[in-house]
Amino acid sequence: MCTVVGYIGRGYSREFVMEGLSRLEYRGYDSAGFSCLHPDDNRLLYVKAEGKLHNLVTKLEDSPIDGFTGIGHTRWSTHGASSVKNAHPQFDCERTISIVHNGIIENHRELKVKLLESGHVFHSDTDTEIIAHLFEALYKTHKTFKGAILDLVGYLQGAYAFITILQDKPDVMLLVRKRSPLCVGIGDGEMYVASDMLAFAGKTNKVLFLPDESFALVHKDMIELYHFDGTPLPMNIQEVELTWDMYEKQGHDHYMLKEIYEQKGAIHDTVDFLSTVHDRVWDDMGVTEQSIAQLDSINLLGCGTSWHAAYIAKFFFETICMIPTRVHLASEFRHMPLFAQKNSFYLALSQSGETADTLEGMRLIKSMALPIIALTNVSSSTMVRESDGFILTQAGREIAVASTKSFSTQLTALYWLAHRIALEKKIITSKKMQQAEKELLVVAEVLENCIENYRMPIMQTYAKEYAQYKNMIFLGRHISYPFALEAALKLKEIAYIFATCYPAGELKHGPLALVDEGMMTFVFSHQDPLVYQKLVSNVQEIKARKGKVTAFAFEDQKQLLDIADVSFIIPHVNPLLGPLAMTGLMQFLFYAIAKELDRPIDKPRNLAKSVTVE
Ligand code: AGP
Repeated sequence: MCTVVGYIGRGYSREFVMEGLSRLEYRGYDSAGFSCLHPDDNRLLYVKAEGKLHNLVTKLEDSPIDGFTGIGHTRWSTHGASSVKNAHPQFDCERTISIVHNGIIENHRELKVKLLESGHVFHSDTDTEIIAHLFEALYKTHKTFKGAILDLVGYLQGAYAFITILQDKPDVMLLVRKRSPLCVGIGDGEMYVASDMLAFAGKTNKVLFLPDESFALVHKDMIELYHFDGTPLPMNIQEVELTWDMYEKQGHDHYMLKEIYEQKGAIHDTVDFLSTVHDRVWDDMGVTEQSIAQLDSINLLGCGTSWHAAYIAKFFFETICMIPTRVHLASEFRHMPLFAQKNSFYLALSQSGETADTLEGMRLIKSMALPIIALTNVSSSTMVRESDGFILTQAGREIAVASTKSFSTQLTALYWLAHRIALEKKIITSKKMQQAEKELLVVAEVLENCIENYRMPIMQTYAKEYAQYKNMIFLGRHISYPFALEAALKLKEIAYIFATCYPAGELKHGPLALVDEGMMTFVFSHQDPLVYQKLVSNVQEIKARKGKVTAFAFEDQKQLLDIADVSFIIPHVNPLLGPLAMTGLMQFLFYAIAKELDRPIDKPRNLAKSVTVE
């Protein structure tokens, strides 16, 4: 999504703002802009550029503006094409108010009509420009920031986090937040503002996360914080340990590769962490032992990779603790009837803890007074703050847009949770619980060994072959079907190769028509003998039509290994952990294909790491 960054203080702003934008560039990158107040006469200055951030860096070398108060933006287009005129900052009529915004103003059309009628002149197609003009009008009426903002937020519908600087008020920066994230790093006579605290990691460890529906007047050494109803809010400043060097590529060509390799450690860390919270896990999750003992249904929701992890976890919950489990796509959740169930909980999965679709689903659940728990990787995220309780993975920060270690640690945490619930319900013993933890550690080893077995020169040879294809079919059965969905998503997002995914049994009901000698089908196997035999039959149907097959198969699955054109072999593990064992190799193969095709792997076109608009 878009990124907003700001600085006010005793130093010059440009260096921090540009570095902050660069650190958060994974969030969005269609165009970028920087705006500041001239250090001598406070004139509002700005430079904007289309395309990636380095275009702005180049333009700033030619026009080296700087000032003690500055804001910056990278844009992920929603309203209006990617162009200089639509890049942020956006301005009021007089160009004395400069604003950068992340989010969507849903009623921008109605507001624009009214503003045009009252004589405002617009220069962009963005919804953000409406905020600048509306604020201009309201500030003229109210003459105070507080009055103008209180009125302004009454007009704006949607989600937004914006930062405003004004030529006439150089000593203050205005921050307004509803639904989209925004935080302030508190320095010594300087304040760092950003969509994500990673922007100021290493500069300060004191952070104020703006609460939802709040605004702040930020001075270089003081912050005034208010709720949208006008009441002052307490400053809940948190101490966080965060350094930027933790997030360098550390010798890898891409963050994605680094993160693929970090999975073994992240799974270990997640198991270690969960085993230490073993006794207090229900407290953390905001539920009681009694409610878990009585639990008779579970609801999971998430988007993208998190939804796939939830779908795989359905098999964990239904098999290990025998609890019927429904999996909801968060982006569809609000459009569906919500049947409140007794003895149930909702668990929202999100790596970032900021995904707008998932957050809105959570808010709906909360509004019905149903228990909502967040499973996330980011303890300071909005989801943790807004849920009744939480359970944390220990993946560490993920930078590449394509999720890798967040997926494997979500599976780890959910496998653990299924056992923990089973233990509470007295379905399994403590010994079995410990065994489950050991199984996860073993699978972490298997995951890494599989990557090591196909090191880069070998994988590159395969990648060259796969890079020829424009379309592929992905198949799985039972638990390997949601894994195939995740694999297809990975291939699409980083290699830009189209992949359609089906439960293998559905092949003959339609997609088999696509199969000929030019079609590659990926099949993800299963260790259950019945499921495996059915998969083999499906592969035979493909081979009978001269289609090509790549199998991710387990050792000793001779029939499948013989019939497939190419096979990637995985050691035996607990059948429910088959997808986790395959994860690293699948990600590594698709990484190699994307590399062969020279794709911008860490920042695929049109995508953003943190999807903070619905
Ligand atoms: C997958 O590689 C993507 N990064 C995407 O599908 C992602 O999983 C989705 O946007 C949900 O993100 P979240 O886990 O941060 O909520």
